[in-house]
Amino acid sequence: MKILVLGGQGQVGWELARSMLPLGELVVLTRAELDFTQPERLRTVVRSHQPDLIVNAVAYTAVDKAESDEAQAFAVNAIAPGVLAEEAKRAGALLIHYSTDYVFDGALDRPYVETDTPNPQSAYGRSKLAGEQAIIATGADHLILRTCWVYGTRGHNFMRTILRLAADRESLRIVADQFGTPTWSRWIADATAHLARAAYERRLAAEFESAIYHLSCAGSTSWHGFASAIVEESRTQHPGRGLLVREILPIVTADYPLPAARPANSRLDCSKLLINYQIVSPQWRDALCLSLAP
Ligand SMILES: NC(=O)c1ccc[n+]([C@@H]2O[C@H](COP(=O)([O-])OP(=O)(O)OC[C@H]3O[C@@H](n4cnc5c(N)ncnc54)[C@H](OP(=O)(O)O)[C@@H]3O)[C@@H](O)[C@H]2O)c1
Repeated sequence: MKILVLGGQGQVGWELARSMLPLGELVVLTRAELDFTQPERLRTVVRSHQPDLIVNAVAYTAVDKAESDEAQAFAVNAIAPGVLAEEAKRAGALLIHYSTDYVFDGALDRPYVETDTPNPQSAYGRSKLAGEQAIIATGADHLILRTCWVYGTRGHNFMRTILRLAADRESLRIVADQFGTPTWSRWIADATAHLARAAYERRLAAEFESAIYHLSCAGSTSWHGFASAIVEESRTQHPGRGLLVREILPIVTADYPLPAARPANSRLDCSKLLINYQIVSPQWRDALCLSLAP
């Protein structure tokens, strides 16, 4: 299998470069090699590689900046994925693409299933939903994986921010009225590799069906619960790190205003993925523990 991974410097893309290795001949490209704001170049690059599988981990993920930069967010998150899907179809390739809980408004009081109606509340969420729709409209073989609260040991993410702040400050104030599931970037990449293998075999057997799937760790917590767990696990696993923090205070969203609205409920129901592909979601706390292991 010839595999093209896009977004090799991102949290998920970086992990994919390792997780996809056993599956075949792998090419990993970064923004420096392929800028998603240049659709014609995107076409040329896909045509030159002739992949069987494209995994797109590129995204405009600056959620707050997107409020005042919606055109750029749409170029990267909506227009480029549509072009990529057209090229995947032309090449006869499967496209695996990531989307987000931000396509929902977060008003439901249960985990979201794939058939719940999207209603994004932010420019980022609108751009990601438009990307899903653009891919589906091409008729290319695709898997769209909606995930949430991604963290890892690289890049910009909540875990790294908390560890940095906890090293410098005695008191942290963290939002406690938004709920979701912290999801480790490495597990996303490993689950994607399993899915890619199964999907490849189903395509060969003419049994593949394109679909949206929810893909996150299991269980849920608030940002406050996540921050507390990060500090606890870090102190257990890295006693020498000397975190200064003495208290983590719960606050409400209104006390921490940001340009983009966040869903109060980001929980994703992943049973469709379990039933159709036997992908098991680990408990978020177990994944956090592994991610911090020395
Ligand atoms: N992070 C989350 O909490 C979260 C939650 C739900 C869903 N998701 C989705 O999960 C997927 C992976 O997210 P992630 O957390 O791995 O994101 P990330 O760490 O921000 O990585 C995104 C990558 O896209 C690249 N990129 C941005 N603009 C580009 C452009 N114009 N041309 C080429 N590359 C560009 C970035 O390049 P640079 O490294 O040069 O900036 C970065 O490497 C995305 O589809 C995202 O929407 C993420």
